[in-house]
Amino acid sequence: MKGVILAGGSGTRLHPLTRITNKHLLPLYDRPMVTYAVEALVQAGIDELMLVTGGTHAGEFFRLLGNGHEYGIERLFYGYQEQAGGIADALGLAQRFVGDDKVCVMLADNVFGSSLEPIVQHFEQQPKGGRIVLSHVEEDEHLRHLGVASMDGDRVVQIVEKPLAPQSKYAVTGVYFYDPQVWEVLPTLEPSGRGELEITDVNNWYVDSGQMEADVAEGFWGDAGESIEAYYTVNDFVRKTRSAS
Ligand code: DAU
Repeated sequence: MKGVILAGGSGTRLHPLTRITNKHLLPLYDRPMVTYAVEALVQAGIDELMLVTGGTHAGEFFRLLGNGHEYGIERLFYGYQEQAGGIADALGLAQRFVGDDKVCVMLADNVFGSSLEPIVQHFEQQPKGGRIVLSHVEEDEHLRHLGVASMDGDRVVQIVEKPLAPQSKYAVTGVYFYDPQVWEVLPTLEPSGRGELEITDVNNWYVDSGQMEADVAEGFWGDAGESIEAYYTVNDFVRKTRSAS
């Protein structure tokens, strides 16, 4: 399985910090944000990675990650997204890298408190389709900033992006698994109201065709790019867990 880490976008919710650097290079405790995603995938057994970024600070990712060996990456490729056209647009840049393989996509502002390894194993064993990772989030105010999965038991029946009235307490995190059908889905997408190609539309394609599986992440999950408050919540979490280890 290949891994794709998405670190593009404009990071407007963290302005003015992100006027002077890429969001994913901001510190989380003692390290740049993107290294948490790198570590999560490598620890889960994915060591062929592509990092997609954009904007004016792309060169800094080379300085940080180099050829990836220091981080346990076997082969590291880079992609450059010319415009912040959305998560699904950024993923499109990885098509040649992934080829006929399965892919695990991770947003570089996501941090998980527990290992992704069991979930990666589930997708290794899944014959076809897609897989998402859910996280239980209690507050509706928080869910309104995320993708939310409507459930029928433990089956996902629909995902709504940033719902005004969340239909469940299950947020869709920024880790997605796809089989090669994803490359046929991407060209069919239309830009959303915010002018982006949405990963939620890709996920709903898999849901509608009955090929979407889901895991619920145990323990902490945070999207450090969601707001300045979320950034500090994630910072506090990693500071507490890393300084204790
Ligand atoms: O973190 C989980 C959430 O991520 C999900 O619950 C939502 O369903 C999903 O749409 C996404 O929502 P966000 O509004 O947080 O997405 P955002 O625009 O912040 O982009 C998240 C990451 O994707 C960002 O840190 C880098 C990457 N990205 C984003 C855009 C718009 C790119 O690489 N290129 C882009 O053009």
